[in-house]
Amino acid sequence: MNKTDYREISETLKAVIQDVPYTMTNLANASALLNEKLDGINWVGFYTIKDDQLVLGPFQGKVACTMIRFGRGVCGTAAEKDCTLVVPDVHKFDGHIACDSSSNSEIVIPMHRKGRVFGVLDIDSPLFDRFSDEDRQGLEEFVRVLENVL
Ligand code: SME
Repeated sequence: MNKTDYREISETLKAVIQDVPYTMTNLANASALLNEKLDGINWVGFYTIKDDQLVLGPFQGKVACTMIRFGRGVCGTAAEKDCTLVVPDVHKFDGHIACDSSSNSEIVIPMHRKGRVFGVLDIDSPLFDRFSDEDRQGLEEFVRVLENVL
């Protein structure tokens, strides 16, 4: 697996989202960028809050579940607690929602607008323990850049 250059990814994201005032457009390109640059992943995308639940947004990967309630699954738990969740083995996470049976590890990072949780970035991997602390930091920085245009 190649080492991920998160600095380069965030710089590319800044260039791609610059002057684009459309949230879904930016999330779509952000998911494509991560899909292109990250090795060892099988799903990357966004859920945003609508009607008090997480609703599927732009993504790359297999068809996924469309609505997730707060406190449910890895995504709903990360959104409710407003904290990043790194899950080295999804089969050991109580309540994990399996959208793609080949997923074995996952990271979910909340995104904010005006200081409140707006949605989450969710990435799945077929590898166990795919997401290191360096990945977490790099992806949190990626989300901070994206939050500027939410
Ligand atoms: N595994 C997630 C559900 C979303 S899919 O992975 C795309 C969860 O447990 O919340």
